[in-house]
Amino acid sequence: MTADPRISRRGLLTAGAAAAAGAVAACSPEQAPAFRNGVARGRNVSATASGGTAVEPFHGVHQAGVATPPQTHAAFVGLDLLPGTGREAIARMMRLLSDDARRLTRGAPALADTEPELAVLPARLTVTFGFGPGLFAAAGVEDLRPEPVAPLPAFSVDKLEKRWSGGDLLLQICADDALTVAHALRMTVKDARSFARVRWVQRGFRRPPHAQDPGTTQRNVMGQLDGTVNPRPGTPDFDRAVWAGGGPDWMRGGTTLVLRRIRAELETWDALDRVGKEFSVGRRLGTGAPLTGEKEHDEPDFAALTPAGFPVIDDQAHIRRAHVADPGMRIFRRVYNYDEGLSAGGHADSGLLFASYQADIARQFIPVQKRLAEADLLNEWTTPIGSAVFAVPPGCAEDGWIGETLLS
Ligand code: HEM
Repeated sequence: MTADPRISRRGLLTAGAAAAAGAVAACSPEQAPAFRNGVARGRNVSATASGGTAVEPFHGVHQAGVATPPQTHAAFVGLDLLPGTGREAIARMMRLLSDDARRLTRGAPALADTEPELAVLPARLTVTFGFGPGLFAAAGVEDLRPEPVAPLPAFSVDKLEKRWSGGDLLLQICADDALTVAHALRMTVKDARSFARVRWVQRGFRRPPHAQDPGTTQRNVMGQLDGTVNPRPGTPDFDRAVWAGGGPDWMRGGTTLVLRRIRAELETWDALDRVGKEFSVGRRLGTGAPLTGEKEHDEPDFAALTPAGFPVIDDQAHIRRAHVADPGMRIFRRVYNYDEGLSAGGHADSGLLFASYQADIARQFIPVQKRLAEADLLNEWTTPIGSAVFAVPPGCAEDGWIGETLLS
C-alpha cells in the first residue's frame, strides 16, 4: 500500500476534532459550568491562583468593553459583509455572535467549540460589537445610521492604508489573557464566516493589572503616561461624554468608536532628548505632571509664562491642542499599544491602537483631531495609518442579542 502517512494522520486528526465538536455541542450552557469546573479540577488549576476565572458581565444597558477597566490584551477585528447579506442574515449572525460572546465571557465553551478547555479561563473577557457605515446600507436601515458614523474627513497628517481602515462590523475582543483572546477571536470569526470576511485584525496590549497598582495610568510605547485626562467611568461626566443621548432611539445606551492606528516613529523619537519629548506633549515623562505642576493630576496652567515670556506649555504642545474644557464633552481614550516586530534593519513597527469612544463623533472627536492635524508638535513622531468608525449598539438582556434594537 502506498498511502501517504501524513494524509491518513490528518484524516484521523480531523475526525477527532469533529467528534470533540459534537461532544461539546451536546453540552448545554447550564452544563457548561460543571464541565468547566471538571476541567479546572482535572487540570490542577487552583481556584484562587489567578484572575483567570474573573468574569465581566456580558448583559446590561451598555455593552461591556468600553467602561470596563482595560484588559491586558485586545484584538480588534474588522469584517466586511459578504455580498447579498441583508437585514435578516445580519440579525441571524448577531444572534449567533451574541450567543458566543455570552458563553465565552462567562467561561463556558461556545456552541460547537472545538477547544472547550480554552474557554474555562475568561480572564475578564469582553466581546464588544460595532456596526460600520456599510452595515446600515446592507441592512437597508441607512436612515437609522447615526450621521457621524461615516468615514472621517481627510486630515493632513493621515497616511491611511486600506489594510487597516474601514469595515462593516467590528469585534473588539479584550481579556487579561492572550490565549483567551485568541480562542474567542477564532470562535466568533468562525461563526461569522458565512456572513462576512475578515478585513483586518489589529492586536494590542497594555500592562497587566498585577504589574502595577490599580488605577495607575499606563505607559505607551513612546514611554509616556497615557490616559491621565480622561473621563472616569461611573461619573456623570463619563455618562454624558460616552453614552449616546441624542441620535436615533435604537442607539440609547450605545456609543461610537473611532479606531485609529497611529504609528510611532520610534527611531526619530529616540533621537530626541528628554526636554524635547516633554516639551512636545507639555508633560513630564517621569511623573506625567504638566510642565507647570508637580504631580500627574495637577491642573495644567496654560497661561503660565517662562521668565523670558514664552508659554511654559507651548502653543503647539499636544495637551494644549487636545484639551477640551467641558469634561462632559471629552473623548474617552481606551488606548492599546501595538508592536509588530522588527524590520530587517531592526527597526520597530510600533504605535497605538487609539480607540476613542464618544457619544457624538462630530461634536467630540473631529474638532480635537482637526486641531491636532493643524498643529501638534507630536505630529513629527506619530503617523495615523489606519482609521475606522463604528456605532457601538447598546447592551442586551439575558434573552436578548446585540443589535436587536436596530435589526429586529
Ligand atoms: C500616537 C499618538 C498619540 C500619542 C502618543 C498621544 C499621547 C498623549 C499623552 C502622553 C497625553 C498626556 C497624558 C494624558 O492626558 O493622557 C495625551 C493627552 C491627550 N490626547 Fe493624545 N496622543 C496621541 C494621539 C491623540 C489623538 C489622535 C487624539 C485625538 C484625536 C488625542 C487626544 C488626546 C486628549 C484629548 C488628551 C488629553 C488632553 C488634556 O489634557 O485635556 N491624542 N496624549
